[in-house]
Amino acid sequence: MSYNLLKGKKGIIFGALDEKSIAWKVAMRAHEEGAEFVLTNAPIAMRMGEINKLAEACNAQVIPADATSVEDLENLFTKAQEILGGKIDFVLHSIGSSPNIRKGKSYGDLNYDWFLKTLDISAISFHKVMHVAEKQNAMNEWGSIVALSYIAAQRVFPDYTDMSHAKAVLESIARNYGYRLGKLNKVRVNTVSQSPTKTTAGTGVGGFDAFYDYADKMSPLGNASAESCADYCITLFSDLTRMVTMQNLMHDGGFSAMGISEDVVEMINKQS
Ligand SMILES: NC(=O)c1ccc[n+]([C@@H]2O[C@H](COP(=O)([O-])OP(=O)(O)OC[C@H]3O[C@@H](n4cnc5c(N)ncnc54)[C@H](O)[C@@H]3O)[C@@H](O)[C@H]2O)c1
Repeated sequence: MSYNLLKGKKGIIFGALDEKSIAWKVAMRAHEEGAEFVLTNAPIAMRMGEINKLAEACNAQVIPADATSVEDLENLFTKAQEILGGKIDFVLHSIGSSPNIRKGKSYGDLNYDWFLKTLDISAISFHKVMHVAEKQNAMNEWGSIVALSYIAAQRVFPDYTDMSHAKAVLESIARNYGYRLGKLNKVRVNTVSQSPTKTTAGTGVGGFDAFYDYADKMSPLGNASAESCADYCITLFSDLTRMVTMQNLMHDGGFSAMGISEDVVEMINKQS
């Protein structure tokens, strides 16, 4: 159902790789809600061609940008404003990748060059995005910037290895840039901490199926789907959440408030 929540708003959406991507669902919902936006992803992800399907469905243009490259981001923000005919109202940062996780390195055996790459792609890129937006004065007043995070920023999930540090940095950048952009022109910055979700990045983490099921059993509402995450992001881009900033917002069906659940007790009892 559409409520026209984003009518007249212009945005940039990072990170739609395929139909399972959270950014893909956000783009579909933003389109339904009347937004106009530009889609972007790393040039290497473009080669898979899937994003063009989304672009067609949303009547959006695609501008390639490696989010670790300030030069690419400058080009992206310049072109996005030309295409959309004005400043930007919302940005979704839905980017994550860890070479250590992809290559199966355990926490005690991290490759440090790859660790730096993880931080650059998954966290520092968020700083770079806001740095470029600030330098180009590209955001409209009362704009909204959202990045996606995970509870491994606060709690230990052993297989999440260096991504847990990236998420902690990401959330810290949201607070610090949230202060800066709030003072500058009332732009808000938040992170959404999402349940485990069956996407390319998600299922790449070792033991994903087990912690997906565990989180589902722990959460009174069950795991939040990518579609419901998209709904939540839309509210954060809308004018209904203008005073929410510098927050890490849990979107997890209640997982983060739980100690143990009856479902998990039952599961353990069955096994013993
Ligand atoms: N899937 C989950 O379980 C889960 C849970 C919580 C948070 N998140 C977060 O949600 C976000 C989106 O992930 P997803 O689950 O939709 O998976 P996904 O694999 O569909 O999306 C990750 C995206 O990051 C992009 N990317 C990687 N390197 C890049 C670069 N250098 N420049 C620009 N883009 C780059 C990829 O091309 C891809 O589109 C990530 O931040 C992820 O950590 C995912």
